[in-house]
Amino acid sequence: MMLRFLTLFALIFCISVTESHKIKSARHDVRNFPEGFLFGTATASYQVEGAWDVDGKAPNIWDHMTHNDPCLIKDCSNGDIADNSYYLYKRDVEMMRELGIKFYRFSLSWPRILPTSFPDEINEAGVQYYNNLIDELLKYNIEPMITLYHWDLPQKLQELGGWTNPFIVDWFGDYARIAYRLFGDRVKYWMTINEPYQVCYQGYGDVTKAPRLNMKGIAEYMCGKNLLMAHARAYHIYDDEFRSSQNGVVFIAYSAQWYEPESENEIQAAEECNQFMWAFYVHPIFSETGDYPPIVKERVAAKSAEQGFARSRLIEFTPEEVDYVRDTADIFGLNHYSTNFVYRNDSVNGYYESPSFYDDMGVIMYQTDEYKIGESDFTKSIPWGFYKLLTKIREDYNNPTVFICENGFATHGGLNDDDRVQNMRTYLSAMLDAIEEGSDVRAYAFWSLMDNFEWMQGYIERFGLYEVDYEDPERTRTPRKSAFVYKEIVKTHSLDFHYEPTDTVMTIDEL
Ligand code: BGC
Repeated sequence: MMLRFLTLFALIFCISVTESHKIKSARHDVRNFPEGFLFGTATASYQVEGAWDVDGKAPNIWDHMTHNDPCLIKDCSNGDIADNSYYLYKRDVEMMRELGIKFYRFSLSWPRILPTSFPDEINEAGVQYYNNLIDELLKYNIEPMITLYHWDLPQKLQELGGWTNPFIVDWFGDYARIAYRLFGDRVKYWMTINEPYQVCYQGYGDVTKAPRLNMKGIAEYMCGKNLLMAHARAYHIYDDEFRSSQNGVVFIAYSAQWYEPESENEIQAAEECNQFMWAFYVHPIFSETGDYPPIVKERVAAKSAEQGFARSRLIEFTPEEVDYVRDTADIFGLNHYSTNFVYRNDSVNGYYESPSFYDDMGVIMYQTDEYKIGESDFTKSIPWGFYKLLTKIREDYNNPTVFICENGFATHGGLNDDDRVQNMRTYLSAMLDAIEEGSDVRAYAFWSLMDNFEWMQGYIERFGLYEVDYEDPERTRTPRKSAFVYKEIVKTHSLDFHYEPTDTVMTIDEL
């Protein structure tokens, strides 16, 4: 009886949190964005550039992996040519002008600029490419926002251990300094690293990103500490050597999904899940105390002791390192796509390989088809999770200024992407709900400007406002319906749920 009552209560709890939010977002037909709010789009070097071995570029870990074992990628493809943006960047900028956006987030390829991985040799042709792109953007008043590291580590550095080698703090700092020196006269927004969890867990703890080290419960923690220290190094270098002359901002782009309790009984489990999955990298930088979240330290230390390790597998920061990392971001960069439901019961014991990050966290998470829109399964559409995440960031970290560095939706192609339009509108609306309640969100980058190499999914999952034809050597880009809708949002600075584009050809609106 008690159990039935609890289940019923849990169900009502779930429905009321989700429903109350749905109703709120749908109440408004036309909603305005705050004055000065910036719209942009995002891409990343390996996903769009191609020209993988042109003009002196050295191989990165994705070149290495896709060439050595092509069918690790779902369609056995690679980024050798990708969108060919190395040659087609002017068309890319033209598309941004069509959309009317104010900024472009793109990343630099470390081995294109530094073929030895180190500053002893600067590849002029690679530098020229980025200079051309930056100048083309600025010519049309589109602000360049650079990510220094979006997953394409020089292969040579991987052979030295990559992000598990503590020397990466020096290597990354040296690379960052070169980038500030080369481009910082024109670039004022710098993201050090894209998505620490994906880099460390998926690349080093697991097999779902290069370099697929699969050393669970060990390597992701080594990577985690080095990555945070490397980020901090790049921040301090900017602060000490460039900020006074260049006046820019430096931050990090987190990937944070929302983890929702399956029922009221699971609030603690979901909280711990949010702490492991993203606060792990946020707390050291944005909390007042710095360091990893206490619950993460406790759980990993306890598990490690139980398992017979001599010390916690979570590599701790010294007090000096805690200080070095704390408060090293001028903005909270946030990539967000979806929400998972969370519970913890006895079935979690033995559910995951041990030791592992997931076993340390000790929760089970899932999504249901109820939230599936469109044909792709890749990005379930749960906009109220975005609202809850933004609210938690506001409450837990003293309302930082947030830039949405990525948000988007996967389809399997086609120009009539109503599902992407629906996802975009409802997520923007959820973001506006949080803004209305005080969240300081100032920018939104749609992922992505155009289809691109979607990592392990190759060219199967499509994220673009523009469709790219990979059969065509010209890699022709064609606007989807979502491109016309985004353009209207940018132009009117508002979100109209009923707007139906009538144009089929894109033009550039003269300002
Ligand atoms: C990454 C992008 C990726 C997107 C869609 C983000 O995690 O930063 O590179 O394409 O998600 O999966």
